[in-house]
Parts: sequence; structure tokens; C-alpha cells
Amino acid sequence: MMPGMGAVATTFVAGVEAVRKGLAKPIGSLTQMGTVRLGKRTDGRSPKINEFVPLAKLDDLVFTGWDIFEDNMYEAANKAGVLEKSLLEQVRPLLSEIKPRKAVFDRNYVKRLDGPNVKKGKNKMELAEQLRQDIRDFKKESGVERLVMMWCGSTETYIERGPTHESVAKLEKAMHENDESIAPSMCYAYAALQEGVPFANGAPNLTVDIPAMWELSKKNNAPIAGKDFKTGQTLMKTILAPGFKARMLGLSGWYSTNILGNRDGEVLDDPGSFKTKEESKLSVLEHILQPEKYPDLYGNIFHKVRINYYPPRGDNKEGWDNIDIFGWLGYPMQIKVDFLCRDSILAAPIVLDLVLFLDLAKRSSALRALGIQEWLSFYLKSPMTPDGLYPEHDLFIQSMKLKNTLRHLKGEDLITHLGLEYYD
Ligand SMILES: NC(=O)c1ccc[n+]([C@@H]2O[C@H](COP(=O)([O-])OP(=O)(O)OC[C@H]3O[C@@H](n4cnc5c(N)ncnc54)[C@H](O)[C@@H]3O)[C@@H](O)[C@H]2O)c1
Repeated sequence: MMPGMGAVATTFVAGVEAVRKGLAKPIGSLTQMGTVRLGKRTDGRSPKINEFVPLAKLDDLVFTGWDIFEDNMYEAANKAGVLEKSLLEQVRPLLSEIKPRKAVFDRNYVKRLDGPNVKKGKNKMELAEQLRQDIRDFKKESGVERLVMMWCGSTETYIERGPTHESVAKLEKAMHENDESIAPSMCYAYAALQEGVPFANGAPNLTVDIPAMWELSKKNNAPIAGKDFKTGQTLMKTILAPGFKARMLGLSGWYSTNILGNRDGEVLDDPGSFKTKEESKLSVLEHILQPEKYPDLYGNIFHKVRINYYPPRGDNKEGWDNIDIFGWLGYPMQIKVDFLCRDSILAAPIVLDLVLFLDLAKRSSALRALGIQEWLSFYLKSPMTPDGLYPEHDLFIQSMKLKNTLRHLKGEDLITHLGLEYYD
């Protein structure tokens, strides 16, 4: 179930259908293409992940969504302009059947958008109740046993964590009182968690990154993950920065700029929405490089991130990084990265994996009552953690954490890469 049926959501659904029809391969999806090594390197046991753990099959997935626009998924996918028309024609029957439910929306939280397909209600609790009814209706209509909700909606304006977010009781009171600290995305998350449905947040919005939602998630055994899909430039950052640190190379500056012309780019052109994104993108380097531990190497980094709305490029973003590093005796060097990426092509397999893994977590007695699923940080730009625990941003640590979680679930030995046993 996807609040937000724009570029990412339509590319995901069209992609799953294309794979089911044998038209394309699920490239970029760990659940579909990845393997996990078990036991010793000499054992030769590396099953595919989807054969090792009981994940839902692509053929079993059904979809629904909400949007402020009335376009069905076929129309929305055409407007998003990510996938070729010839591919979309081949998946048209499924896509045109998926029509958006009326959204919970308020322009104060996404200034650059407005649309007609919006619910009405006395207060935010009443709106959340309508979403809960939508969830129950969809379950009945589709006949599915299990659901996952995945926020694929726009980036909302920046909201600080505050007193109304500290417990379920305070959150519910604030929803009844229409408090402005409750964003529309929180109404969706509240509805999902109250229905026992796992929720993941693909945007940098605060949404489920508050104690009230952690409490609800644990209470109702509805796992949560977030926030903000780790795709283009931040994916590169979390691949490169751990390498510099591993080799004790210094960093004096990292300047990142992007041009992006899709609707997401337009929404992020608003300073409030950009601030939410900026916070999410900036936190990465500090956590990977740990300047407090390595003041000589990372004590004085100038880190800047810009996103520029530039319509001619559509979803085909270009991201430039200028990285000023220094080596032996402080001698400076530069690295330039020019990533001509496709935002939604990078995001779609993340949606698929998060849905399948959250559904697995919901069925796992070891995971479902934990609330935040930190093992899914691998997919996220700004991973959620409980208070007092810093997030792991390093892609390679995140990958190891994810695979060790799967080994743990199946009672296999964790892999430490020590490897002394081969020389015994
Ligand atoms: N594509 C990527 O690489 C990437 C990476 C990280 C995060 N994201 C985030 O994922 C989200 C989706 O990206 P996109 O490119 O599909 O954007 P998009 O603008 O194409 O789609 C978002 C959709 O959400 C709808 N929407 C907004 N508020 C809503 C609400 N309250 N209820 C229901 N629908 C609502 C909009 O009408 C729009 O159709 C954005 O927040 C974006 O920042 C994308």
C-alpha cells in the first residue's frame, strides 16, 4: 500500500509486473538477485536469499495507493516519464486498474503541490480513521493475508521532534486537536501501525522517527523502517567515505550538487521541503568519519549539499561531487564524481526489498516486536535508531548487518571474516 503514486511507486509496480511477465530482470534487488554465504568459504554454500528465507513471491504481490491526483498508475507512470512507453503498454492492464484512494493531504506540509483527490475530516484522528477503513477495505477486496505500507509520497516540510511526539497518548491528543506538529504522513503511519501493518518511510519526513510511533510499532507487532531511500549521491557517499576512512585518508571538503527535473525536484525547490532533505543528506559523513575520534583527518570538513530543480532532465538526475582529500604529510588531492543516474530506477528495487523484508520481519518472532528494523539501514539515507544509539551509515557494515540478521533468523553461524580456521 503506497501513499504517493508518483515516479518511484509507478516504477516499482510497473517493474514488478514486467519481471513477472518475463520482460525484464529485477536488477538492483537484493531479495531477487542476491545470495548469502553460509558456513566456511570452503563449504560452497551460498543460497539465493529468496530461497534461504521465506519471502513472499513476486506473483503474490497486489498493490494499492493513495494520491492527491486522480490519475491511475498507468497515467501517472506516463506522466512521470521514467519508463519507456513500449514497456508501459505491456503492463498497462495491471497499472490502469490501480486507482488512487483519496489522500490525507495539507498544502502547509508540501507547498508546491495541490490536487483534488483529498479526504475531508474534522481532525487528523478522523482522517487517520478513514485511512484505517481504506486498509481494511483493501484487505477484503484483494483477499490478501498480509499488508505492508510504504511511504512513496512527497517530502514534507521540516518538522522538529517535539512534545506531542513523545508518546502514543500525546500523539493521539494532538491528532484530535489538529496540532500542526502532526504531518499527513504521520496519519498514514498511525493508521498502518494501529492495523498491525508494517510501515516504511521512503522520504526524509519525521513520520515514524518519533517515540510515539516506536511505541505503537512495538505494541502492535508492526515493524517500521526509515527514512529516505538511499539512492544516487548519498549511495555514492556511503560507498566512498568508508574507503577513505579505512585507509586513514583525510577529508577537507565535500561539495555535492544535483540537477533534477521531476516532481520530486519541484517539491524540493521549496525551502521547507529542502531543509528536510538536507538534514537527511548531511548527517551521513559525520557518522561515517567520526571527526571526534579522528580530529586530524576529519576535524574540519566543509560539507555542502545542493539540489537544483531543472525540468529538462526529468527523472534523469545528474549529481556532481567535488571531494577534497589529503594524504601523507597533508598533501591535497581531488576526486570528481559525475553520476548520471536515474532516481526512480535506483529507488524501485529498494521499495521491493523493504516490502518483502518488512513482511518477513512481521512473521518473525525475533524481529516483529523490536519496532525499528535497524538491519534494513542498508536501504536508507538516514537510518532510524532508538535514542542514544548512533546510526550505521557505512554501506558495507549495513550489508553485513543485514546478511547476519538473515543468518541469525535461520540459526546459521554469523560471519565475522576472521578466517583463522583456514590456516589451522
Ligand atoms: N527517487 C529517489 O531516488 C528517491 C530517493 C530518496 C527519497 N525519495 C523520496 O521518495 C518520495 C517519492 O519520490 P518520487 O520521485 O516518486 O516523487 P513524485 O513527486 O513523483 O511522487 C510523489 C507523489 O506523492 C503524492 N503525495 C504527496 N503528498 C501526499 C499525501 N499526503 N498523500 C498521498 N499522496 C501524496 C504526490 O501527489 C506525488 O504524486 C519523495 O519524498 C522523494 O523525496 C526518492
